[in-house]
Amino acid sequence: MTDKISRYPLVAVVAMAKNRVIGDGQQLLWHIPGDLPRVKSLTMGRPLIMGRRTFESIGRALPGRANIVLTRQQDWSGEGALCVSSADDAIVAAEDWISEASDRIGEIVIFGGGEIYSAFMPYLDVIDLTEVDLSPDGAALFPEWNDAEWTEVSRAHHPSTDSAIGFDLVRLERHK
Ligand SMILES: NC(=O)c1ccc[n+]([C@@H]2O[C@H](COP(=O)([O-])OP(=O)(O)OC[C@H]3O[C@@H](n4cnc5c(N)ncnc54)[C@H](OP(=O)(O)O)[C@@H]3O)[C@@H](O)[C@H]2O)c1
Repeated sequence: MTDKISRYPLVAVVAMAKNRVIGDGQQLLWHIPGDLPRVKSLTMGRPLIMGRRTFESIGRALPGRANIVLTRQQDWSGEGALCVSSADDAIVAAEDWISEASDRIGEIVIFGGGEIYSAFMPYLDVIDLTEVDLSPDGAALFPEWNDAEWTEVSRAHHPSTDSAIGFDLVRLERHK
């Protein structure tokens, strides 16, 4: 049985290499133009929960979304960031943001990086995954999930070409 920490579904949006690498701690390690519209449509109108390192690697708040940033530094601030110091406070901030306007979507996006995906993995309902056809070195990883708890509900293969990296768009849902 899944633990619930919110009345809203928790959806991880992530691009992961074949060796689980998602970044080097500071930035992404690939550029996949075809993935950007998908990330936008999966996140727009929703609250994003991310780690301080991910917020700083993006370099700005993403418009049309709440940018809820987890940090243990009491004096940290970022322009456009809603700063919180625990996973529970992040969920409360996300729920409050959704309830503030009727056009907001009732889903909470777990936006990374590695530490934040790990912290929320037990509570995720959906993983929207871009599987990148690379195996780069990098310190930030997406955590292992237990296949027995998840169903792959869709997969779209985008083969590599001379000029573009191959990738698969995959949606996993936790068994009810
Ligand atoms: N491929 C993808 O889809 C994707 C998505 C997102 C990010 N990334 C990549 O992932 C890398 C960053 O990941 P990361 O694991 O190094 O860092 P991260 O998860 O983005 O951020 C870690 C920071 O979050 C704060 N934090 C973590 N757990 C917390 C808790 N329980 N309570 C309060 N604060 C907490 C701490 O901030 P303080 O140090 O300030 O206390 C910690 O240093 C980058 O390379 C980025 O590009 C990739």
